[in-house]
Amino acid sequence: MRKNLVVAIDGYSSCGKSTLAKALAKKLGFIYIDSGAMYRAVTLYFIRNQVDMTDTEAVKDALQHIELNFHSRDYQSHITLNGEEVSEEIRQMPVSENVSEVAANKFVRKDMVKQQQRMGKSKNIVMDGRDIGTTVFPDAQVKFFMTADPKIRAERRFKELQSKGDTTTTMEDVFENIAHRDFLDTTRAESPLTRAEDAVILDNTEITEQEQLDFAIEQVKLHFPE
Ligand code: CDP
Ligand code: CDP
Repeated sequence: MRKNLVVAIDGYSSCGKSTLAKALAKKLGFIYIDSGAMYRAVTLYFIRNQVDMTDTEAVKDALQHIELNFHSRDYQSHITLNGEEVSEEIRQMPVSENVSEVAANKFVRKDMVKQQQRMGKSKNIVMDGRDIGTTVFPDAQVKFFMTADPKIRAERRFKELQSKGDTTTTMEDVFENIAHRDFLDTTRAESPLTRAEDAVILDNTEITEQEQLDFAIEQVKLHFPE
């Protein structure tokens, strides 16, 4: 199979993008890249270092001090921030509460998009996020736009947090966070979340993970050369 094949998966928060992306990457033998983890890791750095988002020079300077790296184990993607493994910490609420503000910043986006495009060079990848099919890889061979009922999404994310020992975040907190991020992600000026014209819509409100994977594989078969 040739190199440079890209599967782009975009969609709202917590609707199963990374679950599908990981399963698809495993099935196809592609590399999985979680672009949301990059915005989350930048947000963690900004929180820890109290970077003032209204100060353009401070933002630009902070970006110069951030080095992100992915390493993959069993198709689970792990991210390091300046050498420190932060995969768990970036999923917690303080980051979720601030990430969409950080991700709306044009200097942050420019920097992340450049890194993401570099990662896609000469490799076959599955990347999920908000602007992958529209901005990062507009020429991706296969694009999915995922969606699901907001209440179901909040329930799924809530269960995840509980299984990781979070006993303070309520279901309402999760629902509000998801709704707030969806609002910011779809209305921001810099590459807002929107469906690429050639993206296939996948609503997984009532389908299982296996069913969504089967559907995605069928689509991939239509677009990729053997
Ligand atoms: O997994 P979840 O749906 O909670 O979000 P994520 O994929 O980890 O992304 C976290 C946040 O990063 C999103 O709410 C967006 O604000 C931002 N993001 C983005 O702007 N562009 C991307 N390509 C990926 C994430
Ligand atoms: O990456 P994103 O934020 O879009 O969502 P995720 O972290 O992949 O998925 C959120 C939760 O939905 C996970 O706990 C999945 O197991 C679950 N789920 C799914 O991804 N797909 C379904 N068809 C049903 C449940």
